Amino acid sequence: MILDWNKYNELARQAVAEGIVLLKNDNEVLPLQKDSKIAVFGRIQSHYYKSGTGSGGMVNVSKVTGILDALLECPDVEVNQKLLDVYQQWEKTHPFNEGIGWGNEPWSQEEMPLPEDIVSAVSSETDTALVIIGRTAGEEQDNQDLPGAYQLSDAEKDMFANVREYFKNMVVVLNVGSIIDMSFVDTYQPDAVLYTWQGGMIGGLGLADVLTGKVSPSGKLTDTIARSIEDYPSSGFFGGLERNDYAEDIYVGYRYFETAAKDKVQFPFGFGLSYTNFTIRTGMFEKTEESFVKLQVSVQNTGSAAGKEVVQIYAQAPQGALGKPARSLVAFQKTLVLEPGEIQHLNFSLTKDTFASYDDSGVTGNKSCYVLEAGIYEIFAGNSVTNLDKSGEFAIDEIIITERLSEAMAPVRDFKRMKASLLADGSYAIKWEDTPLCTEAETVHRDRNLPEEIVCTGDKGYKLIDVKNEKISLEEFVGQLSDDDLACMIRGEGMGSPKAAPGTASAFGGVSEHLKAAGIPCGCCADGPSGIRLDCGTKAFSLPNGTLLACTFNTELVEELFAMTGLEMAKNEVDTLLGPGMNIHRHPLNGRNFEYFSEDPLLTGKMAAAQLRGMQKAGVTGTIKHFCGNNQETRRHDIDSVISERALREIYLKGFEIAVKEGKATSIMTTYGSVNGTWTAGRYDLNTRILRQEWGFRGIVMTDWWANISEYGASPDKMNFAAMARSQNDIYMVCPDGSVNSAGDNTLEALKAGTLTRGELQRNAANICRFLLDTHALLRMNGQDTKVSVINYTETAEDFGQQDVTYYPVDDGAEISLEDVDTSKGSSYVFALDTRRQGGYYVEITGKSDLGELAQIPVTVFLQSTPVGVFTWNGTDGKWVTQTKRILLHSKFSTIRLYFAESGVQLGKIKFIFDINIKDIENIDEYMKGEGLMLFSLGHVLGSPCDPAESTQKA
Ligand code: BGC
Repeated sequence: MILDWNKYNELARQAVAEGIVLLKNDNEVLPLQKDSKIAVFGRIQSHYYKSGTGSGGMVNVSKVTGILDALLECPDVEVNQKLLDVYQQWEKTHPFNEGIGWGNEPWSQEEMPLPEDIVSAVSSETDTALVIIGRTAGEEQDNQDLPGAYQLSDAEKDMFANVREYFKNMVVVLNVGSIIDMSFVDTYQPDAVLYTWQGGMIGGLGLADVLTGKVSPSGKLTDTIARSIEDYPSSGFFGGLERNDYAEDIYVGYRYFETAAKDKVQFPFGFGLSYTNFTIRTGMFEKTEESFVKLQVSVQNTGSAAGKEVVQIYAQAPQGALGKPARSLVAFQKTLVLEPGEIQHLNFSLTKDTFASYDDSGVTGNKSCYVLEAGIYEIFAGNSVTNLDKSGEFAIDEIIITERLSEAMAPVRDFKRMKASLLADGSYAIKWEDTPLCTEAETVHRDRNLPEEIVCTGDKGYKLIDVKNEKISLEEFVGQLSDDDLACMIRGEGMGSPKAAPGTASAFGGVSEHLKAAGIPCGCCADGPSGIRLDCGTKAFSLPNGTLLACTFNTELVEELFAMTGLEMAKNEVDTLLGPGMNIHRHPLNGRNFEYFSEDPLLTGKMAAAQLRGMQKAGVTGTIKHFCGNNQETRRHDIDSVISERALREIYLKGFEIAVKEGKATSIMTTYGSVNGTWTAGRYDLNTRILRQEWGFRGIVMTDWWANISEYGASPDKMNFAAMARSQNDIYMVCPDGSVNSAGDNTLEALKAGTLTRGELQRNAANICRFLLDTHALLRMNGQDTKVSVINYTETAEDFGQQDVTYYPVDDGAEISLEDVDTSKGSSYVFALDTRRQGGYYVEITGKSDLGELAQIPVTVFLQSTPVGVFTWNGTDGKWVTQTKRILLHSKFSTIRLYFAESGVQLGKIKFIFDINIKDIENIDEYMKGEGLMLFSLGHVLGSPCDPAESTQKA
């Protein structure tokens, strides 16, 4: 297998260019004329946000080509040097603030105050100003409706005002993960505005292609931009600390705005300008029996530049008894590049279920069914949700049931949900109705459907490869496993387990010697979704973020790009990427929106399916996450998302359903939190009934890392692996050591007590083995894997080669020599720790420097790729000096990186001395205060299992 790095770069660059959304382009200020002179404002020009923060953005890269880099490289534009010098001078005293610890990077960086005389002087040299605004957010850190976050800061407002006053042409470039407050468009009237998102390591190049007109923009908004954040119907609930009522129900995003608040929309869903014009016309419209609705839409380029257009098809279903949104996206396609005058015909074939709604109350007389209520169904085609022409309509005389299901995951708490009601004048009024509640505990479903136990044969000498070679059945193989083996199988091991590729999130499957002897390999997962996260420092390709990719509306391109990622994974021995992230953009402030695709479930599902198909071409896959309802980061471990069954099925589960049915997903991650009172890691209805029985899923379900588990009606308990296994959430992520019960899980205890059956555990093992049967890991174990060779590196070969890390056992306070470490400016040293006891440690570093007393030589410590603190050295007169701080090692395996920002220090050794077991730390924030090197927020650390046998032991 060959991975062509040039092709990878080209595809990513094309994706960036196609995902950029042009919202405004007065007087055709864009594209820039050849040899244009431009003045670039905004300090983020030299600190491109390649992605958001947290696990979804931690890809080590050799080089990021940001906006300024790309413009300086571009022969068609000339960047004003005078202004650039001013920024570079200012940067020296105002370095970029990365924040310390997990989820602590600020949403934005301090902006340089702009002296008016400089703006005026620069404006005499060029007419065109590019103003760049940067924002980030991510895991554990929702965005906030504050200046410098969702809103512009005062310094940014001043910059806008100043630039507007002096420059004829003002182009605003938004390097952001999710949408921000756009009221500045009215206030400062920029000529052009582009959402360029976070484009990964080559993001600047894709933007330069659009600015210079090499590529005409064709990206479309995947979210509605409302005039005010208060206008989003979820605003009153988002960020709740205990519960989050999804009171807007199915009226999410444009489904709400088009129905009940058209006037509140600043930029509609699906909108995005081009450098050319298109005429979209429906040719043929047909209702047939087998394919239901067929239509052909022609797109003609009626402008003067070449470009692509996205055709979007929406339906308006009759209100019936259920109530329907005024518009629902039912299909989309992107054209090829059309030259001026050129026409392309696009064919759409829409099945019956495309138009169905779910009746969760029985109001149509068909409770728990997907139905098409009687009435007229209208179909529209166009290039945004508000720019549509009617393509045709069809009538349904009598209600049609497309799927008969049964109640699953319905809410247990009372709440009122939104329902739109059509008025005589064609407008809609918002009403509120009682949400139907759960009528049957899901534990009953489990009890009624216990799997049969496979006869235990003991070891008959068969290996897993014998199942692949069809010598024996999967059942026969699983029959050989002992209870102990079965208990080990459901323990994922990590992070940074040495049983899988170095620096990855987890090893699972063959985690014990006995399982390995049975020929079960360890599968490997790595974050995801914006490239491969390898904490040992191995470089990887950092991809454009999820929102950007969805804005391309180009599933073929996304599939091709992820075929490259698949090869890269195979090369790095990663079997499943922890992504795509596919939660719905329910609210603009969700910190992880950058990882996710859209407010629309169809687009979300299609994008995820495309990524999966791409990765599958290389024999690997992705883990679709977070299943389901993970729509805020605030208190994500504890929050109860209260969602009607209808909204779950039509909005929050729909994308996952598409990814399973069309994308053939074989790996899923549940969430940290609870949906309707039960934590998803133990939800039988979710992980068994909906996922497997309804959708036909045959793969593995894993928890999120150190997640809570609960069962219907019970409190959450991380050690309740039995509840997890019963629900068919097959793997707990992650345990310090999968081969022993070091975390204190209750699997074997429950098996003995009869509250968990052997048949259930065997079913988990079969799911895991079935997954592993299709992995490179199995082939590798049997000496049958094909290697991936990488061609056309532009970086050095070591950058992308897998790096070996040495694991040091440190419980006994052993020292690690740093004497031969290269401490010159810009270098790093990576090693890993194997700690039997998880908890607080003292870390001592001994070093010396011959520089003067005032010298400052910072050595940054990264734990699992997150900067946790700095040891700063001054001159020591050549004497060895030891500095001590505290560090929290909450995982058995930890990857540590020491980064040397300046030359001048020589290190002797580093030592880790055990202080306190994690369970004995009453208040982690307090414990880590002062000399502590901070990694995780409280919620995350408390999630870490540790050895109860050690819990009383103190250093
Ligand atoms: C995140 C997951 C991620 C996992 C492993 C969790 O904190 O929620 O999305 O895949 O960590 O890094």
